[in-house]
Amino acid sequence: MNQPTPIPLLDLGPQHRLLAPAIRRAVTKVLVSQHFVLGPEGKALEAEAAEAIGVKHAIGCASGSDALLLVLRAMDFGPGDSVVTTPMTFFASAGAPARLGCRVDFVDVEPDTINMDPAALEAFLATCTRESDGTLREPKQGARVRAVMAVDIFGRPCDYDALEAICAKHGLALIEDAAQAYGASYRDRRCGAFGHAATFSFYPTKNLGGAGDGGLITTNDDALAERLRSLRVHGSSKRRYVHEEVGINSRLDELQAAIVRTKMPHVDGWNAQRREHAAAYDAAFADVAGVTPLRAPLAHVSPIYHLYTIRAERRDALKAALDAAKVGNGVYYPIPLHLQECFENFGYRAGDLPLAEAAAAEVISLPMYPELPAADRQRVIDVVRGFYG
Ligand SMILES: Cc1ncc(COP(=O)(O)O)c(C=O)c1O
Repeated sequence: MNQPTPIPLLDLGPQHRLLAPAIRRAVTKVLVSQHFVLGPEGKALEAEAAEAIGVKHAIGCASGSDALLLVLRAMDFGPGDSVVTTPMTFFASAGAPARLGCRVDFVDVEPDTINMDPAALEAFLATCTRESDGTLREPKQGARVRAVMAVDIFGRPCDYDALEAICAKHGLALIEDAAQAYGASYRDRRCGAFGHAATFSFYPTKNLGGAGDGGLITTNDDALAERLRSLRVHGSSKRRYVHEEVGINSRLDELQAAIVRTKMPHVDGWNAQRREHAAAYDAAFADVAGVTPLRAPLAHVSPIYHLYTIRAERRDALKAALDAAKVGNGVYYPIPLHLQECFENFGYRAGDLPLAEAAAAEVISLPMYPELPAADRQRVIDVVRGFYG
């Protein structure tokens, strides 16, 4: 019997074939210049990204995880502070505050978007105590609630009208983890332009990725930007070997910056292709009982579908059927973060965030990349439709 040709979840090959000559030129230019760290490529990328996103400052760093860590450091987060976030995200969204000794409070998600539910955030904040000096304390460990970290999961922006209003009302900082959402927009604003600061990842599988690790921070806050530029070079910004504070080594190197720059002019087009695939999947699954595609939060949102994800009844059996048909797939994320062993100290139990837990048992992502051939997309659809009869 003929084996079906595998359809990958993500194929970076076409992108590389398109850009290989430009990437080779860009890499050679850096090698010839012998300027490998904090040079003209990084500076140019920062300027281009700030302009594309519509913010005053973009600051390169070594990864999306470091970007989160640096933002929290620059805002003086530490032990005794709490950051509120979603449990349905990549580990780093909660790992960054935890690494700084912060408490992480998780709030439940909207079932149809699996983004943070603003109503759940309000409900959580209603359980906190406001002290006479304005400090807001969460009920479990008495940590000072200072920030909400919103995550544009799978490239679908959060409901920022609601989140901005809640943060303003309660005096909380808003941080946007836009690692999966380069080029997505909400009303007339791009992801990366929300909150006090936002972060991106250039991990290779991201919709704008390098050839290794890389990250970016965006902000309109001049003082925060200056501190971030210092923190990424061991807390030394003014004079070499003079340190104002203890920072870390987290720079976006010139080779990564040059490679990401070759892709930047293409990313909006690639994102449009992703949206076309998502629309075709959505239409094909509209009448399939047992399949609910995650929706973009609101009509005025333009997502970029870093991943195309459905909620599926009998998810694990569907996964086995996709595997058997050699159709790439992935479960993001199988364990909601509040139930991770390393976060036991935050005091969550199974059942505490039922909507996130249900989502973790039902989500599955299907092949999605700009150049996904229409015939492959149709085969994915046929396997899913066939599974549900
Ligand atoms: C939502 C989210 N936040 C943070 C990160 C961390 O980015 P990086 O892998 O570049 O450290 C990622 C990417 O993996 C992510 O998907």
